[in-house]
Amino acid sequence: MNKKLPIRAAVLVLALAPTAAMTGDAPSLKEIMQGLRNDLVEISDGLLTDDFKLVAHGATSIAEHPKIPAAQVQLVAAELGPDMAAFKQLDNFVHDLSLEISAAAQALDRDAAVSGYQRMIEACLDCHRTYKERVAAVLRPEPEPQSDL
Ligand code: HEC
Repeated sequence: MNKKLPIRAAVLVLALAPTAAMTGDAPSLKEIMQGLRNDLVEISDGLLTDDFKLVAHGATSIAEHPKIPAAQVQLVAAELGPDMAAFKQLDNFVHDLSLEISAAAQALDRDAAVSGYQRMIEACLDCHRTYKERVAAVLRPEPEPQSDL
């Protein structure tokens, strides 16, 4: 009778495994993007309310955004092929701009911060215009199988 227990435990582990894989420590690209959105809003708020600390905080957090999980990088690289270099370059460009905005905010240089902010929005949208649909399509989780019930 108690032999059933390990089987139940194994079934439970199998049932939980996909959830654990999806909600593990490493955020997905989509979750990273949602973080970038919040950081960008922080920069906007900071610029609109003359709060340079907030600007620097948002910019630094964009600079330090988590890495895309390796499994997703592989999927993206397989989809983009030779375009992967340009994709990475856009990511690096946003990274460099975030450092520029953070430095400008710390120097209380409004013009430089605003200029970096405007170029950053263009860079975010540039990547979205060129790659978002394509990349989102390969990262989208498989739809749940239809139940017969
Ligand atoms: C190098 C390319 C690239 C850059 C640069 C980029 N994004 Fe994205 N972004 C993507 C991709 C790809 C997706 C789609 C991810 C998915 O659906 O799995 C996305 C999706 C998003 C989403 C939608 C998330 C959702 O819930 O569907 C937001 C918000 C977002 N990005 C914000 C930003 C902001 C803000 C910046 C600039 C600071 C930025 N992105 C820069 C590639 C990029």
